[in-house]
Amino acid sequence: MKLLSGKVALVTGAGRSTGIGRAVAQRFAEQGADVAILVRSINETTDKIIADLEACGVKAKAYAANAASFDEAHEVVKQVVAEFGRLDVLVNNAGITKDGLMMRMSEAQWDDVIEVNLKSAFNFVHAVTPVMARQRGGSIINMSSVVGVSGNAGQCNYAASKAGMIGLTKSIAKEMGPRGIRANAIAPGFIVTDMTAQLSDEVREAWSQQIPMRRGGTPEDVADVALFLASDLSGYVTGQVINCCGGMNC
Ligand code: NAI
Repeated sequence: MKLLSGKVALVTGAGRSTGIGRAVAQRFAEQGADVAILVRSINETTDKIIADLEACGVKAKAYAANAASFDEAHEVVKQVVAEFGRLDVLVNNAGITKDGLMMRMSEAQWDDVIEVNLKSAFNFVHAVTPVMARQRGGSIINMSSVVGVSGNAGQCNYAASKAGMIGLTKSIAKEMGPRGIRANAIAPGFIVTDMTAQLSDEVREAWSQQIPMRRGGTPEDVADVALFLASDLSGYVTGQVINCCGGMNC
């Protein structure tokens, strides 16, 4: 018996072959979940990701939408429920960075990051909670970040969005617990993906010196935490932030 047999999961921001979202979707499929992924646009990479998911013997489909759009998020959830029959797990993983020091940050840099990282999570939670409430159960997983707790120079927009996700997570846990819906956040540290590939070697070396385990995490490290939170193994865990950071900021 696999950990997620019979469950349906929706993972946002799963369209990059090296990203955390794809790794989460893959881990869920390996453990028997049918998986819907939300991507920005459907292309050859998406086709390959879907083929890899289907190779696990599960149903998989990609939906293209802007996670920051309330209406598009609701439409995607409606389609997923219609085509998959239910929805048990939501992973709010879509995210962007538009870094800059506070004094030089434009209004657009602030708004874009808050919209894509934080409002998108509200959009999808708003859309899935009635479905999960009818099913009397579900697991919502929000991808926060260690900088949402610690802050980070040059990332006030990103850190605020990730701190917001923690407040959102804890509030949903309190509101939805009586209906059997759990909500938890993952706070990854430095994970080797396209997002962190943009950083210079010096910045990456400086980060690595702050990590007791002396290596960046892999998307699969984060996916394993998501698997725990999605599965019944975490049946009495809600409102928590689980760091996945090699000991950084502990
Ligand atoms: P990534 O850039 O590889 O993946 C982000 C995904 O979000 C991409 O597939 C992108 O297409 C999608 N996306 C962006 N804007 C979107 C929109 N408007 N609508 C729908 N999809 C959209 O980044 P990575 O590293 O895989 O990050 C995944 C999540 O983990 C993000 O929320 C990020 O903030 C978070 N995180 C990453 C860390 C890292 O070190 N890589 C550390 C802490 C948190």
